[in-house]
Amino acid sequence: MKILAIETSCDETAIAIAEFSGTRSKPRIKIFANIVSSQVKLHAHYGGVVPNLAKREHQRNLPTVLKTALKEGGLLKVSKQSPNPESQTIEKILQREPELLKNFERSILNLTPPAIDAIAVTIGPGLAPALWVGVNFARALSFLWKKPLIPVNHMAGHVYSPLVSNLQTKNYKLKTIFFPALALLVSGGHTELVLVKNYGKHKIIGETLDDAAGEAFDKVARLLKLGYPGGPEIARLAEKGNPKKYHLPRPMINSLDFNFSFSGLKTAVLYLLRDNPRTKKADVAAAFQEAAVEVLVKKTIRAAKKYNVKTLLLGGGVAANKKLQKGLQRAVEKELPDIHYLIPDISLTGDNAFMIALAAFFTGKPSPWKTMEAKANLRL
Ligand code: KG4
Ligand code: ZN
Repeated sequence: MKILAIETSCDETAIAIAEFSGTRSKPRIKIFANIVSSQVKLHAHYGGVVPNLAKREHQRNLPTVLKTALKEGGLLKVSKQSPNPESQTIEKILQREPELLKNFERSILNLTPPAIDAIAVTIGPGLAPALWVGVNFARALSFLWKKPLIPVNHMAGHVYSPLVSNLQTKNYKLKTIFFPALALLVSGGHTELVLVKNYGKHKIIGETLDDAAGEAFDKVARLLKLGYPGGPEIARLAEKGNPKKYHLPRPMINSLDFNFSFSGLKTAVLYLLRDNPRTKKADVAAAFQEAAVEVLVKKTIRAAKKYNVKTLLLGGGVAANKKLQKGLQRAVEKELPDIHYLIPDISLTGDNAFMIALAAFFTGKPSPWKTMEAKANLRL
């Protein structure tokens, strides 16, 4: 089963092509392409993602990213036949994305349908204008190439992303999940603990009540006048700081539920900086990172124990954080030495389309392109 997957939920325009064989519990994969075109530099100018700017960029990027992916996968072929006579339907599908329509007519209509078995697309959660571009692009391709269309939940992509590591060595394999599993998903928009009883059987058992973990990193970075996105900047600076210099609060660390709260931690940093104008930024970054990581680790381990999980998965942009990766690893070794702890290849921590192909393979079901819609608030 060869899947072409499309991801545009936020500020990355991404397309991947992957082939799956074997069964769900013992699958084999081959990745033909995994292209991510990041808009991060553009949004950095505004200190965060601007939805309508993301929509415009996705419209510009998608056709090029698609052709790059097809080319890498050896699937790019221009047709000698005259352009597809059904372009009226395409016009209708893409009527709300005029720039994409123009690019589609110029460079996609004349392609030979590639040898793929299905198209997968992120339908949510995410920024509505950004999601719609990807969904309508996928609908147009599904109609044009007569391929089934699989709607995918972006967070399911993050759940399954840790199944692949060492992507660089080309010696990658899909790992096995032993159920029940627990996923800690930490990104700019979400912080969730997800109980995974089986492939596609997900239940959110805890989530943030205010800011997401990545959002907290970004906001604290702004307080420290660092660049955007803030997560990597804080992590880098924290290496030079003393995490014990200041003690910041660990919100909800002892609450009996599995929810999180990060806005109080951010406010504590604000007051710390206000009251100590001579603080070393690196010490603040280190103290903040230590507090955030400690809460995430402690609650995740507690949930893993309560639900007797056999596998712990870590996913999302903040999963790139080495202190978090190691903190969880140490806690697992000490308190739950029998569970499997899986973290994604660094290139799969942030948003990408390969994880959407993975989620489509493990959980997806085709659905008619005609009625497919973006769902900005979709939940697992
Ligand atoms: O999953 P992602 O790429 O996009 C969303 O779906 O939100 O996550 C982006 C978030 C940003 O908030 C960014 O600051 C954070 O992940 N992030 C990090 C690190 N790398 C990225 N946070 C902490 N440490 C990092 N090394
Ligand atoms: Zn994400």
